[in-house]
Amino acid sequence: MSNKQRVLTGITTTGTPHLGNYVGAIQPAIASSHDETTDSFYFLADYHALVKCEEPERVRRSTLEIAATWLALGLDTERAVFYRQSDVPEIPELTWLLSCVTAKGLMNRAHAYKAAVDDNAAAGEDTDQGVTMGLFSYPVLMAADILMFNAHRVPVGKDQMQHLEMARDIAQRFNHRYGEHFVAPEAVVDEHVATLPGTDGRKMSKSYDNTIPLWLPEKKLRKAIMKIKTNSLEPGEPKDPDSAPVYAIYAAFARPEQRTAMREAFAQGIAWGEVKQQLFELVNAELAAPRERYEALLADPGRVEGELRRGAEKARALSRPLMDRLRAAVGIRTLA
Ligand code: TRP
Repeated sequence: MSNKQRVLTGITTTGTPHLGNYVGAIQPAIASSHDETTDSFYFLADYHALVKCEEPERVRRSTLEIAATWLALGLDTERAVFYRQSDVPEIPELTWLLSCVTAKGLMNRAHAYKAAVDDNAAAGEDTDQGVTMGLFSYPVLMAADILMFNAHRVPVGKDQMQHLEMARDIAQRFNHRYGEHFVAPEAVVDEHVATLPGTDGRKMSKSYDNTIPLWLPEKKLRKAIMKIKTNSLEPGEPKDPDSAPVYAIYAAFARPEQRTAMREAFAQGIAWGEVKQQLFELVNAELAAPRERYEALLADPGRVEGELRRGAEKARALSRPLMDRLRAAVGIRTLA
């Protein structure tokens, strides 16, 4: 592989993709996979999924759905390395080497772990209640994902910035003790990327139960859009686009001239039902063709599996030699 800037990100395989994931993460990542000046790595974080989800069938299903989603939306798997974390055994191996240089005190400060401890304390429970080593060590596994491929840039949501800081810290400690093996990764948090509101107007998120799944069939997509919260202004009354979730979603899919026209329609008092109809048509037009490809991929899991296997081969061509050097560096070497 070349010496270009490396961009890497992981997607935890729980749940099914929704419009917010599409606009905020998947779409920008696929666009950047076509950028000639970078090498991109996208992977399905199925080991991370086990921290949150103990339903085997859900993990499997989600892995298939997310992989099919990225393929259906046109990820260029010739250029990008697209793989499943668990197909790269060097990642858990590196996790152990990194664990041995990671201060427990650093992990004590992780937001997700601290939140679990605080909730327990507030409920008067033992503070370790329900806290697994998987949850506690989550940031080390994530550091291994990133450092394994010496990624320079890691596009993530704001909630993941602390994990990137930890990955840098862990990389530095390892380098300090065993030599310069890792580059310090940078978080890329794109302020321009829209966070989409959900059907209730809050940020679209699984945890609020306000999502619109990306691959709803046409009729259900229309129904879901018709349910987005509006106010009681009547047709003919001027409306404010900037406080309307329907407009925010419209704007995320529209071209600039469509946005201008819709703002004008709001000022003229367009009816909410009409806004929603137009929103449905816009979103559906963009998703109809990929939806067909997605359905075809779901019906042919072997094809998805084949893509992931090819991706894993490309990934392992990098992870195997690095892991050999790392093992030697820490003193795990042949005796002969
Ligand atoms: N923790 C990330 C999330 O929940 C997913 C993830 C796992 C990841 N490994 C990664 C993201 C490595 C970026 C780089 O969103």
